[in-house]
Amino acid sequence: MPIQNVLLLGATGETGGSILTGLLDAGHFDIKALIRPSSAQKPEVKDLLKRGVKILVADISSPVEELEQMGIVTAAKQVGIKRFVPCGFATVCPAGAVMRLRDHKEQVLNHIKQLFLPLTFIDVGYWYQFSFPPLPSGKIDKYLPPGMNSKMRGDGTAPNLITDLRDVGRFVARIVADERTLNRYVFAWAEEMTEKEIYSVMEEVSGEKLLVNFVSAQEIEDEVLDARRLFEKEPENQELFGRMSSAEYEYSKYVRTDNRGEYARYLGYLDARELYPDLHPKKFWEFVQDLLDGKVRRPYSGVQ
Ligand SMILES: NC(=O)c1ccc[n+]([C@@H]2O[C@H](COP(=O)([O-])OP(=O)(O)OC[C@H]3O[C@@H](n4cnc5c(N)ncnc54)[C@H](OP(=O)(O)O)[C@@H]3O)[C@@H](O)[C@H]2O)c1
Repeated sequence: MPIQNVLLLGATGETGGSILTGLLDAGHFDIKALIRPSSAQKPEVKDLLKRGVKILVADISSPVEELEQMGIVTAAKQVGIKRFVPCGFATVCPAGAVMRLRDHKEQVLNHIKQLFLPLTFIDVGYWYQFSFPPLPSGKIDKYLPPGMNSKMRGDGTAPNLITDLRDVGRFVARIVADERTLNRYVFAWAEEMTEKEIYSVMEEVSGEKLLVNFVSAQEIEDEVLDARRLFEKEPENQELFGRMSSAEYEYSKYVRTDNRGEYARYLGYLDARELYPDLHPKKFWEFVQDLLDGKVRRPYSGVQ
């Protein structure tokens, strides 16, 4: 396969880190990582150099995190980049007032489209790493994301696309080397599971009986309204933005049930599992076994 040049943003982050590993393992990418000046001396950047990644230090600042991509999109057009992959990598969700986070991504997408810049937009469902409840023994507590508890939303039967963060990069390496995905949306995924199924796999693999606290659809909708109201009053408050984003994720995933393969196909996405039938992502039960064996890293573990 010919060597493909990639400029990767976010290589020191969670999604970008998985993508970097996927690209390096594929072996046919020449990778440069774009690093902002304030991070140039971080130990993570020195690790990138050790892994053979070239570093480009540049400032692409903007007041809204997701929209920091706008300037780099314009620059990509000017230098004739052959494919721009904006920051998607989230759950399947329609544009327009369902999830503010998604709408920020949509603004970037619109900018790309207005420039007629070749693109591929990739969503990956929700990470396994954010999709499991605690065990009563406390054995896996150290891997739990903040705020994760034994919640089951609605009656626990909303299906959701989920993927191991570690597999995101394997999918990306295939997608960006594939002409079929040019100017298309693609969803990469490992399992489509309800919370009832997730709980049952956890019980089976761990041998423990899980506690369940049901949260109704009405409670989820009320929280979305409350969180939005508070954020509108203080639009600069990042904590309130985080609360609103979490509430909107729950609303989209469990009340609207957007994050499903059937809905992704309806929205026009290609299915990465159909494109790459030989790519076998980790099953959820294997992830739970990895949790019990201590083989999983908690996302953002370096963040204070
Ligand atoms: N599907 C899911 O379950 C899920 C879960 C979480 C996130 N996501 C999605 O994944 C996307 C990426 O989030 P993440 O949590 O993986 O990211 P993250 O770990 O917070 O990392 C962000 C990366 O972007 C870099 N960065 C930020 N601002 C920059 C700038 N101005 N210039 C250059 N580099 C900059 C950071 O570099 P520094 O080293 O300089 O900080 C870091 O490498 C999000 O948009 C989110 O929607 C999905």
